[in-house]
Amino acid sequence: MAFYSDELIEEVRSANNIVDVIGGYVSLKKKGSSYFGLCPFHNEKTGSFSVTPSKQMYYCFGCGAGGNVFTFLMEYENFTFGEAMEALAQRAGITLPKKEMNQEQRAQADKRSRILELNKEAATYYYAQLRQPQGEQGMSYFKGRGLSKETMRKFGLGYANKYSDDLYRFFKQKGIADELLRDSGLITIDERYGGRDKFWNRVMFPIMDVHNHVIGFGGRVMGEGEPKYLNSPETMVFDKSRNLYGLNIARTSRKPYVLLCEGYMDVISLHQAGFDMAVASLGTALTPGHAALLKRYVKEVYLTYDSDGAGVKAALRAIPILREVGIATKIVHMDPYKDPDEFIKAVGAEAYQKRIDEAENSFLFEVRMKMREFDLQDPESKTMFHQEVARMLLRFEEELERNNYLEAVSSAFGIRADSLQKLVVSVSRKMDRAVNKKEPLRDGKNSVKKEDGMLQAQKFLLTALIEHPEIYDVVKKYVEPADFTEDIMYQVAMIVYDGLENQTLNPPQIISRFTSEQEQREVASVFNATIRNLEKKSDVEQAIRDSMVKVKTNSIQNRTAKMDPSDMQTLMKLLDEKKKLGQIEELPILLQE
Ligand code: UTP
Ligand code: MN
Repeated sequence: MAFYSDELIEEVRSANNIVDVIGGYVSLKKKGSSYFGLCPFHNEKTGSFSVTPSKQMYYCFGCGAGGNVFTFLMEYENFTFGEAMEALAQRAGITLPKKEMNQEQRAQADKRSRILELNKEAATYYYAQLRQPQGEQGMSYFKGRGLSKETMRKFGLGYANKYSDDLYRFFKQKGIADELLRDSGLITIDERYGGRDKFWNRVMFPIMDVHNHVIGFGGRVMGEGEPKYLNSPETMVFDKSRNLYGLNIARTSRKPYVLLCEGYMDVISLHQAGFDMAVASLGTALTPGHAALLKRYVKEVYLTYDSDGAGVKAALRAIPILREVGIATKIVHMDPYKDPDEFIKAVGAEAYQKRIDEAENSFLFEVRMKMREFDLQDPESKTMFHQEVARMLLRFEEELERNNYLEAVSSAFGIRADSLQKLVVSVSRKMDRAVNKKEPLRDGKNSVKKEDGMLQAQKFLLTALIEHPEIYDVVKKYVEPADFTEDIMYQVAMIVYDGLENQTLNPPQIISRFTSEQEQREVASVFNATIRNLEKKSDVEQAIRDSMVKVKTNSIQNRTAKMDPSDMQTLMKLLDEKKKLGQIEELPILLQE
């Protein structure tokens, strides 16, 4: 971002009509001055997704996704800002200046793309081998596992034959240097024996990132043998802790959740059975990196791990990692079968769908697993279990949510609700004393609410200024950009005030000044969060006065709290501002139509 000038960004943006760009992904219908369609960012049946040509922006009234052409590609294609810029520049035939990289960076970037290129060639090589006579054994292995030709094509499955150096020779014929081959993880270079393929005599699973780049491979023995799967080592392009197998396909699923499983074959079987939202963390435990990746696509994850002890353990570890990033988890049970692959083979897709529908809430699952650690025949052990449950319930800060869980736990595990409620209160007191905090349950909740309300008020006022520039002259006498205490709103306020002052306000351009998707989303909502649910003009006018009072009061309070008590000048200014607060109620905020 820092690299391209504002002018160039604006040139690229304005050369790409948002209706055309989004129209390439979403089918849009014109309604009034906007276009509407089904939101690509959440699952819906009615079209709440709007694209407004006059503003060159999109906004979804259902899920709040919104922004300009850059944001759209960043959200939809999962591009970085730089990638969106490149794609749109190319689309409009604009040549971008080459990024200035130092020699080291250029060499790194070069190497990355060359390794990706080698991976792609290797994948193509394995793919072709599987489909030739010498790939017969691999083909019959996959067929034996019930995979269709179409499934094999979709996942790019392949075969590495029993010669342990033919990929090496293939690359050598093309004149690729040993060093690069070694760094790709595809070839091992031995001082004495020369180059050897990492994979041979195995069926091959290419691993793709969300942009469909081949970043690594898994190779399975055909039948029994150790190791069952051999995987590419970590390379410059392969980071196991940040990639999920199958996500390149699952990300285009219209389902609002993913099915998270353990293995390659689980993902493939599920997809073949119609569950196109299955992904797997390849033989590694779920990491925060995986969780952050998933969070870009879904709010909910269904864990469909193996039903053995290791699977349960992995699930118990995954739940808090997902919770940490705000993803809710459910547990799909597959007993008496081992894993999704086996389940589907044995009883089919419909039965599996039923297990999804009956998936267990992750909290109840955690309590049930906790229960196994206690002997409920023994009163002391049973009491300890109940105390543990109370502690777990205290994770829910919202009283209502906590009570809902309390009820559910009470009926699922036969613990008297009123006694459990008392236990929660007493455990909470003990914990408070331990950490020396006062009433954490209530405090936490209220302060969150207040902050949210303030953000809303600041957003609303900025929206009003953008929609009704005629009120600017009155508003600016009472509320300044500095009064917008929410960091991002302050930045937007500076730009909006400046734009209104010089009559150069250009909303879509403002959005591109923010780089992260989160920020762009927030800023986009400023331009779209209306005012539309207030019908009467006088109601809108009053709402603007109210928001001015709110924003100003908060700002005065903030500064008062931070003020040095001996600073008379600031004190006088604050008193003056306080006095002026009363005038806002009477202000002639008059909207034009
Ligand atoms: P599983 O042993 O559950 O294999 O390991 P699977 O996926 O069910 O495979 P099939 O059905 O027996 O063919 C789960 C995942 O753990 C990793 C692989 O990613 C595998 O898919 N794994 C397993 C390895 O990396 N190496 C191994 O030797 C075994
Ligand atoms: Mn399996």
